[in-house]
Amino acid sequence: MHDKNRNISDCDNLTEDSIVSCFESESLHKAQVFFFDETDSTNTRAKLYADTSQWKENGEPAFFIAAKQTAGRGRLGRSFLSDGRGLYMTYLFRPTESLGSVLRYTTRAAVIAARAVEELSGCEVKLKWVNDLYVSGKKLAGILAEGRTDASGKLEYMVIGIGINAFATDFPEELSEIATDIESESGRKISRAALAAKIASGLCSYLSDSSLISEYRKRSFLIGERVNVIKPTESYPATVIGIDDDSALLIKCENGTIESLSSGEVSIRKFN
Ligand code: BTN
Repeated sequence: MHDKNRNISDCDNLTEDSIVSCFESESLHKAQVFFFDETDSTNTRAKLYADTSQWKENGEPAFFIAAKQTAGRGRLGRSFLSDGRGLYMTYLFRPTESLGSVLRYTTRAAVIAARAVEELSGCEVKLKWVNDLYVSGKKLAGILAEGRTDASGKLEYMVIGIGINAFATDFPEELSEIATDIESESGRKISRAALAAKIASGLCSYLSDSSLISEYRKRSFLIGERVNVIKPTESYPATVIGIDDDSALLIKCENGTIESLSSGEVSIRKFN
């Protein structure tokens, strides 16, 4: 049964000090970090900051990290459970790549987060196109990348929000069969500050690395599978045949046509 009041004293103590110290251990001495014990959504905080004259002038990348969110958001307008037992972080930066890069940044961030979770937990992390991290067939984490374009269509900024279930959680009924957390999978109570710093280090070093797509493909558990493609106005069965270099999902429909899916509006369900 979902217990909203589950005691969070058995989580680690995620504080500004613990984050600063872990960021220093990863040689991220100069990173701009904004920490919140509780906030609505770190993506929302990052986007508000991107609108300030301060950020418009300096454009320095920044991290927004919260121990708890009251309005955590996921893709397709869904909410993201942010009950204080996970890590909720957002990276704000000025992209160097074009608008079509939102998907590429998402898949790279997924690989970076997967590596960090594996390193600290020992769990094998798989990826579900386009933004989900899975362990043992259940969702452990999700990524929400959002950007804003100027009048010419150039990306002014991007925020990459990552939410990871860290400590054993009584998921609400609708999630209990499909979601998991690091502690339940590995038996380890990891340090969220250490996880945040590892991910931050990966984002700073590898977010522009186009070769990460090969690792994304290797970690993807959809390639070769029959799936249901769900679009806003229709859904239909297909087989996943690959992921291209731009991170689009390649599917073969029942009538033999090949489609490339790159819209953030599409979701994919695997047939069991
Ligand atoms: C998804 O599962 O569809 C994506 C979930 C993304 C959740 C993270 S938590 C940090 C950041 N803030 C948010 O409101 N969402 C992202």
